[in-house]
Amino acid sequence: MRRAMAMARRISHCESAPKETADAVVIGAGVVGIAVARELAIRGRDVLVLESAPTFGTGTSSRNSEVVHAGIYYPLDSFKAKFCVRGRDLLYRYCSERGIPHSKLGKLIVATGTAQIPSLEKLKRRGEENGVEGLKMLDAREAMHMEPELVCVKALLSACSGIVDSHSLMISMLGEAESHKTMVSFNTTIIGGHVEEGKLHLHISETEEIDKSVSASPLRPQLVVIPKLIINAAGLGAVSLAKRFHGLNHRFIPTCYCARGCYFTMSGMKNPFRRLIYPIPEDGGLGVHVTLDLCGSVKFGPDVEWIDSPDETSMLLGRFDYSVDPSRSARFYSEIRKYYPNLKDGSLEPGYAGIRVKLSGPGNPPADFLIQGEETHGLPGLVNLFGIESPGLTSSLAIAEYVASKYSS
Ligand SMILES: Cc1cc2nc3c(=O)[nH]c(=O)nc-3n(C[C@H](O)[C@H](O)[C@H](O)COP(=O)(O)OP(=O)(O)OC[C@H]3O[C@@H](n4cnc5c(N)ncnc54)[C@H](O)[C@@H]3O)c2cc1C
Ligand SMILES: *[C@@H]1O[C@H](CO)[C@@H](O)[C@H](O)[C@H]1NC(C)=O
Repeated sequence: MRRAMAMARRISHCESAPKETADAVVIGAGVVGIAVARELAIRGRDVLVLESAPTFGTGTSSRNSEVVHAGIYYPLDSFKAKFCVRGRDLLYRYCSERGIPHSKLGKLIVATGTAQIPSLEKLKRRGEENGVEGLKMLDAREAMHMEPELVCVKALLSACSGIVDSHSLMISMLGEAESHKTMVSFNTTIIGGHVEEGKLHLHISETEEIDKSVSASPLRPQLVVIPKLIINAAGLGAVSLAKRFHGLNHRFIPTCYCARGCYFTMSGMKNPFRRLIYPIPEDGGLGVHVTLDLCGSVKFGPDVEWIDSPDETSMLLGRFDYSVDPSRSARFYSEIRKYYPNLKDGSLEPGYAGIRVKLSGPGNPPADFLIQGEETHGLPGLVNLFGIESPGLTSSLAIAEYVASKYSS
């Protein structure tokens, strides 16, 4: 690949870019792309991972809560429900076997007023239908005994929820992929593609070149790669990239919405909780919750801010506004104090932000993950992974298992 790119650079003054064939190409080195690459490589495929950023996991995969979800929230038989439950089991086993930092510390979903109790009971039923074990309804006294700083009227204990060090997870999976047949090329952006003789040809450019030529439209590829199998795991950019594949039927490409989520950290106080504490879910997210990391520090978040989709170039290059506006802390104080009234004024500091990729807009019920292969869009060898929002980290190994067994057997 590197040699091909060097060659491409030398002859880039020519009209047509050089072509290369490949076995399997994974677009995007986030946790999902890496998990898929690993699974394909273990099953004997020759894998090429192309990532626009200078390294792996710089997108949503390092801008989330790092929570291993149990599988409570999602509709019965949805991909989210199935992949979360299966992925969580695979993930805990994977992390235990390889010494990847993780902790099954458990979580409490809390009702802070009696009006919320029916929602809590509905969550318990839904979780049980999804096959989540270890769910237990606690009365206020039991819950507040477990977590003395907590105030609530009822709580749902989820024993198998936990946290994982997602960076260590990605390093481990990437290493395994590379020890089979996987090559990773960073600073390499897929700028689009076209269908020729029934196959998708990927248009590829060094990321640096796109920066230089943003004004030149259309962007010119430096290299064309013709793979047998393509997994579009471009996260936030997956939908806008699919729209740049000429010859793919756009009827099947969904509309994508973005919702930012900010985190605040807590300073000057000792960690008040031993478990994850979640309120009842809100529109667009799971509510401003308490997450602990493996070093024992506490963060609160993420909130929900629906934003306009970033422009095309930002989408291609993954350049998004991840700044945290300190003034958002006002709402955090009021939300958090509903279940943690001892939160002191001035103790919240801006942390980081992530952007949720959504296939449902504000006010609509959450959409499922969307996985489309030839059976949907009719183009052999292309698999699009759309809307892989939460619980995508928890689900990554299960998504990989599904994609590899369905599209690479
Ligand atoms: C605020 C927030 C909190 C979350 N909390 C949790 C949680 O607690 N637990 C959980 O299970 N899940 C959580 N999630 C979801 C989880 O983080 C994501 O589902 C997961 O990280 C998605 O991984 P990915 O590989 O699909 O995407 P990404 O990590 O975004 O990776 C996509 C990669 O593709 C690259 N790329 C994009 N376009 C191109 C292109 N044209 N050419 C080449 N490369 C390209 C990008 O640079 C990027 O590296 C959360 C998400 C958010 C936003
Ligand atoms: C990727 O590009 C950056 C500059 O944007 C550079 O510092 C880095 O060395 C490049 N990495 C690789 C692997 O080429």
